[in-house]
Amino acid sequence: MDKSKVEKINIMAIKKRKAYELEIIDLAFGGRGLAKPDGFPVFIDRCVPGDVVFVKITKKKKSWAEGKLIKILKESPLRKEAKCLYCNFCGGCKWQQIGYDLQLEYKKRHVQESIEHIGGLKNILVKDVIPSDPIFEYRNKMEFSCSSKRWLLPWELDDQEIKKGFGIGLHVPGIFDKVIDIKQCEIMPNLGNQILEDVRTFIKKSDLPAYHLRSHEGFWRFLMLRHSVAFDTWMVNIVTQEKKIDVVQDLAAVLSQKYPQIKSIVNNIIDSKSGVATDIEEITLHGENYIKEKLGKFIFKISANSFFQTNTRSCEKLYSKVSEYAALTGKEMVMDLYSGTGTIPIWLSDQAKMVNGIEIVQSAVVDAKFNTRLNKIENCEFFEGDIKDVLPRLKSKPDVMIIDPPRVGMHKDVVRQVLLMGPEKIVYVSCNPATLARDLEMLTPKYETCEIQPIDMFPHTYHIESVALLLKR
Ligand SMILES: C[S@@+](CC[C@H](N)C(=O)[O-])C[C@H]1O[C@@H](n2cnc3c(N)ncnc32)[C@H](O)[C@@H]1O
Repeated sequence: MDKSKVEKINIMAIKKRKAYELEIIDLAFGGRGLAKPDGFPVFIDRCVPGDVVFVKITKKKKSWAEGKLIKILKESPLRKEAKCLYCNFCGGCKWQQIGYDLQLEYKKRHVQESIEHIGGLKNILVKDVIPSDPIFEYRNKMEFSCSSKRWLLPWELDDQEIKKGFGIGLHVPGIFDKVIDIKQCEIMPNLGNQILEDVRTFIKKSDLPAYHLRSHEGFWRFLMLRHSVAFDTWMVNIVTQEKKIDVVQDLAAVLSQKYPQIKSIVNNIIDSKSGVATDIEEITLHGENYIKEKLGKFIFKISANSFFQTNTRSCEKLYSKVSEYAALTGKEMVMDLYSGTGTIPIWLSDQAKMVNGIEIVQSAVVDAKFNTRLNKIENCEFFEGDIKDVLPRLKSKPDVMIIDPPRVGMHKDVVRQVLLMGPEKIVYVSCNPATLARDLEMLTPKYETCEIQPIDMFPHTYHIESVALLLKR
């Protein structure tokens, strides 16, 4: 029998809903374990290379399959004990069972492979990942969802004492209307867990139900916590479906009396089914409607809905790399696309003649302008709007362009405009190696990618930030 026939028969042997014993040989895109029985790729979440696992096939396509981990039959020597109680269930960080050094190796390879396979770019230098320090309690922002139905952990199923009702925490991947009732999140500074517990107790005692994602009824939606590393202060955003000032004001009083570190409590009212409404009404319940953070020598005001990099210490390393790659002399005109709260323009302000930022979120632009005044900076200007509309209207041509888009990368019209403007140098910051690779390839006709520096902002997840230096050919 020839080889292709053997493979075909074996591929056919993998069937949906059947369970198999498989050995994990690698980690694939998206951080999932990869098994290859007879060369046929099967992807399984929460596995470590070297594990032998019992897996139920949940999806079968022509050239690959997905499976659900049922049992670990033999643990890989690379497997580490996770710090987090929920790590086998929560969608937050799925890589806690992998040692940090190994996480960094896989992240670097993920960037290299994306550049080669998606971007088709060969021989690009991808440097070793700059690690995060610390690797726990590093996230400065967490958003916990409220649910009228909590997801029960396996050891809670038979416990009659445990109520199935209200929960506040993070989702189990694929189960959108239930949340794990998180008591301790290891990637957020610990005081956040105490605040979370007090909010949980208050909500349980209130007579108001959690918002239900199917019926679209209920009151409590999310709890967003932000922490300022430099000042060790907190912002609490209580997100509700409707306005009930008396109720949220009582919760704010409980929190502000107990925690002097909380400098801002706001109530965002989101009356939309998707939960990503653009028309958010915001009411300040305690202190200011923002908190301050420091990056290097600069201070930043951050509002509840403005983007701010989620790992403050790694963010400083990221911006230092941006400065190094931009290598400004003080004479350049710099343009920062996707400028958020103005952090990169302000960081670069004393190295350039002028820095312009473009950003779509109005509150972020308001913060960016406030931040320039706060830092007594006069050579930064910000434009509000969609980059693809704003960029063609700008008259001045930048010498250096910084591009830091969201996960989806750049709109192809923006790529076209960047190619037309033709700055001498581009520093591209990306949180998604796949769209980084795609965009670098689109810029290739005019720009050579010189090197890429990955920086870890997200320990225990497969996510990785990268900075790429591009020079005009
Ligand atoms: C990854 S963040 C970068 C922010 C900033 N550079 C920083 O380091 O904090 C991407 C930013 O792009 C903004 N954005 C997304 N789509 C946009 C668009 N089409 N036009 C302008 N800004 C956009 C988002 O609101 C967000 O602030």
